[in-house]
Amino acid sequence: MHVLHVVGARPNFMKAAPVYRALAGKGHKQTLVHTGQHYDASMSDIFFTELEIPHPDENLNVGSGSHAQQTALIMSRFEPVVLARKPDLVLVYGDVNSTVAAALVCSKIDIRVGHVESGLRSRDRSMPEEINRLITDQLADILFTPSLDGDENLAREGIAKEKVFFVGNVMIDTLVRLLPKAEAIFSGLKAELSLNSFGLITLHRPANVDDESIFCPMLEVLDSLSRELPLIFPAHPRTRQKWSARLKQCNPNLRVIDPLGYLEFLALQKHARVVITDSGGIQEETTYLGIPCLTVRENTERPITVTLGTNVLVGRDWKALREEFCRALSGDRKQTSCPPLWDGMASERIAEILSR
Ligand code: UD1
Repeated sequence: MHVLHVVGARPNFMKAAPVYRALAGKGHKQTLVHTGQHYDASMSDIFFTELEIPHPDENLNVGSGSHAQQTALIMSRFEPVVLARKPDLVLVYGDVNSTVAAALVCSKIDIRVGHVESGLRSRDRSMPEEINRLITDQLADILFTPSLDGDENLAREGIAKEKVFFVGNVMIDTLVRLLPKAEAIFSGLKAELSLNSFGLITLHRPANVDDESIFCPMLEVLDSLSRELPLIFPAHPRTRQKWSARLKQCNPNLRVIDPLGYLEFLALQKHARVVITDSGGIQEETTYLGIPCLTVRENTERPITVTLGTNVLVGRDWKALREEFCRALSGDRKQTSCPPLWDGMASERIAEILSR
């Protein structure tokens, strides 16, 4: 079987890497297409090196743009590639614009599509990723879910259960494989950043970082929390570009740094006392690692990280953020457990199912 993988943005890379490896282990022919949605070395190249993903066979170099422009450019550049390469199946990952664009192209030229990380729903249609999830799942021929809430969501949306496979979380496959390497670099990183006890922040969602009336009060709270525990903030280029002057005014305990590679970020997560984020994947990684996670969003498409894991949705309630931050530091933690099938074997299950 010839499988063509489509990746484009940072969170795709850690999901595609283990599936590529598992399919290679079964001898399938594979093609890797990078749409170029993320193009900075710190958002793309470093992940290919660290995750040992082969060099892409094609790069569509679409770059940034409005959602419509980016999605349309991916579609028009991807169509001739997929027609020329003639795969038996195209695998798309997660919920970024590259995911939905490739699924749309394939569905109109009768090429089968598999969606990895299917079925997640925030029920918040103001999130571009929710639109991407809904459409990709409607178009996909085979859907791989990371948790059973995904299966339930898909059933509710009328998707035939024969097409749906609960396989577990592929991103955790990468974490399990690379955690020893991340641990090995931690002491060097700790010395380089002069760290002792610390927390970690990531914020990049337009809903949090685009609007001054939201971002600035949030930054003030983070600035004050960092006086209690130093906070490291590897900032996404969009956050950095927009707020460089404002970020420079923060106290030195709030350390804004360039985006990190996978291993460095994983090492910091593993040793952080608390993580504050609006990312999807980090809610999952902290749950696996057992690190308290405070999510600055009103909802999550990954509810299992709240019901079983370490995640607490604080929304934009700064009082709640402060309270939960203090609770995390005091060690007053809820009982948590690792979600079913987050065991490092999800990609092997996918490869097994596709080979059948
Ligand atoms: C995308 C995903 C989001 C994911 C995030 C992870 C969509 C709709 N969103 O958001 O789900 O959580 O990636 O990182 O697909 N930029 C750079 N360098 C880059 C890429 C982007 O400077 O390599 C800047 C540009 O100013 C760009 C902006 O970031 O306009 C937004 O990039 P885009 O790919 O549109 O969305 P993300 O916010 O990265």
